[in-house]
Amino acid sequence: MNKVCFINGSPRGKNSASKGLIDKVMEMLDVQKIQSHELSVVEWNKKNAKEEDFELMRTMDAIVFAFPLYVDAIPSSLLEFMYAFHEHLIKHPCPKDCKVPKVYSIINNGFIEGKQNINALQIMAHYSARIGFIWRFGIGIGAGEFIRETMEVIPLSSKLKQGIYKGLTILTTDLEGQSEKEQSNIMTNPSMPKFIFTAAASRHWLKEAKISRKALSRRVWSEA
Ligand SMILES: Cc1cc2nc3c(=O)[nH]c(=O)nc-3n(C[C@H](O)[C@H](O)[C@H](O)COP(=O)(O)O)c2cc1C
Repeated sequence: MNKVCFINGSPRGKNSASKGLIDKVMEMLDVQKIQSHELSVVEWNKKNAKEEDFELMRTMDAIVFAFPLYVDAIPSSLLEFMYAFHEHLIKHPCPKDCKVPKVYSIINNGFIEGKQNINALQIMAHYSARIGFIWRFGIGIGAGEFIRETMEVIPLSSKLKQGIYKGLTILTTDLEGQSEKEQSNIMTNPSMPKFIFTAAASRHWLKEAKISRKALSRRVWSEA
């Protein structure tokens, strides 16, 4: 049975799109073939016994980092976790016969284009090589806020989210060890016209910021 550890690297913890996507992949995995573990960087930060999680990670067949895109890169809290894990591996070199885990990433971003995650996926590939693990591939998913908000009401198997479902299916097949072939990064997003996404996103952020469109333009104007 393959062991997989999912790392939720979102500073939002359990209320994140990253967590929602991890849950979906875990649901899709065959429990006869995969034993899943889950860690959250937010929780790890609060822990005293931080090394325990690192010891668990190095016994895995695969590690899946799921996180949001921050400024075309990686949230600093996750970066800190990654540096600490690397230091742990240097301090505690593995014996000759230990496993070399495969590494995957699921990155979601705010803008609609999933391809905006390309730089962050490359960072993850470089990181995997640096720590001596095997980089497999990643999935870059656009419209993360939309995915989070509609996780339970619009199923991944719907036409709108078909590209994401397909990407996650490729990931689960790979995790279950059914594919050894080379796989490039998968860039995907909900299939909707950009103008509809932009209008809905603008409404969403005005609501989140608790400000009207009129008040927002007035404020920007007076700052200028
Ligand atoms: C500090 C910060 C920086 C961000 N930078 C980007 C970015 O460069 N590109 C982008 O498309 N979205 C960006 N976003 C939006 C997040 O990637 C997006 O909201 C994502 O869906 C959050 O995922 P989560 O719920 O898993 O944390 C940023 C958000 C924050 C808070």
